[in-house]
Amino acid sequence: MVQNVIAQRGGAATGAPETRPRSGAPLLSRAVERLQPSATNSTSQRARDLRAQGRDIIALSAGEPDFDTPDHVLKAAADAMAAGHTRYAPVAGIPELREAIRSKFRTENGLAFDTDQIMVSTGGKQVIANAMMATIDPGDEVIIPAPFWVSYPELVGFCGGRPVSVPTRPEAGFTLAAEALEAAITPRTKWLVLNSPCNPSGGVHTAADLEALAEVLRRHPHVHILCDDIYEHLIYADTPFRTLAAVAPDLAGRTLTMNGVSKAYAMTGWRIGYAGGPLPLIRAMTKIQGQTTSCANSIAQWAAVAALTGPQDYLADRRESFRRRRDLVVGLLGEATGLRCPTPDGAFYVFPDCAATFGARSPAGTAITDDASFCRALLDETGVAVVHGSAFGMPGHFRISYAAAEAQLVEACARIRDFCAALTRSGGDR
Ligand SMILES: Cc1ncc(COP(=O)(O)O)c(C=O)c1O
Repeated sequence: MVQNVIAQRGGAATGAPETRPRSGAPLLSRAVERLQPSATNSTSQRARDLRAQGRDIIALSAGEPDFDTPDHVLKAAADAMAAGHTRYAPVAGIPELREAIRSKFRTENGLAFDTDQIMVSTGGKQVIANAMMATIDPGDEVIIPAPFWVSYPELVGFCGGRPVSVPTRPEAGFTLAAEALEAAITPRTKWLVLNSPCNPSGGVHTAADLEALAEVLRRHPHVHILCDDIYEHLIYADTPFRTLAAVAPDLAGRTLTMNGVSKAYAMTGWRIGYAGGPLPLIRAMTKIQGQTTSCANSIAQWAAVAALTGPQDYLADRRESFRRRRDLVVGLLGEATGLRCPTPDGAFYVFPDCAATFGARSPAGTAITDDASFCRALLDETGVAVVHGSAFGMPGHFRISYAAAEAQLVEACARIRDFCAALTRSGGDR
């Protein structure tokens, strides 16, 4: 039956079913040919490969807490298996988890959703993929403040849309300026992506920053907002975390608020992300997920219920530990010649500027011409893996994840400092 439908569609232009393959037609789609592999994943893989060859590698490339998943979460997963929660679950998520998320959004964020406005996916990454697939038509534009998480523009492009990168400035804490947003909006703008705290810059938008953006967005009712709040629990400044739909409730009807358990609860491998948003959008995203992956892992969903409803006190301890590491890394990198490292307010990354090293040569003779060659030479010659800023839409920088043991961070920063100190210019000066 389905075969017939496909055959009829295929032959619609000629009136006859198309039975022979087009000779020389490429297997891979144009969309996948355009898609870039994730730079963070490929750097991490290169670090693993070098380590397998026996090299002494310090990998600061992955966006992953080094803490363990809490014991009560592990137990909830074991209990779920023992109780037989091992079958297909509802596509949008088990009712217990959707209820836990509804309650989390209400109490922590001041957002009021009905349970059917909430869906659970295989990681926050799938939430974003679902949202783009559900909404992007060819040529639609998505405004993405730079630097940005590597997957946003790739997913937009894969769906046929046009990512529009809008630079932010280190001096402004990498927050999006209202005037820059206003200037980037066109009649084709479908989404603004807001990621606060930001990967890779660590920039945090305050309530006042969000209100200024909301003011602009009110003038452009065709623009929807995707708030990626996955680093919500990792803010080191005194200003509390705020999300746009709570600061500007009048925009809630066109805001998708996305989050997940990966970063806050050290559950990256469990693959649970979620979103709350307008019902028609959530329904469309659920329809797509129903045809691609169905429900997220049922056992991991029970684990996520325990994460969201269980004790939360250890989050503050982990945040404090990240703050110490941030201060350690920023302090040590301050001693490196040619680097400028602002102090980020959130997430677990620093995003130093390395442009002053361009034009120099590394000890092994590599010409440092840009952030990519800086990071390649750093990995090859010192064994420290970091990710070049161009992958995040901001050349001249690089990202260090400080979600690693303090001893490793100290050693990595010493290697970076020595590497920078040993760079030479053609005149022989450093
Ligand atoms: C900004 C941002 N959003 C979303 C994600 C997706 O996280 P996950 O798919 O593990 O929930 C990540 C992961 O690195 C991220 O950094």
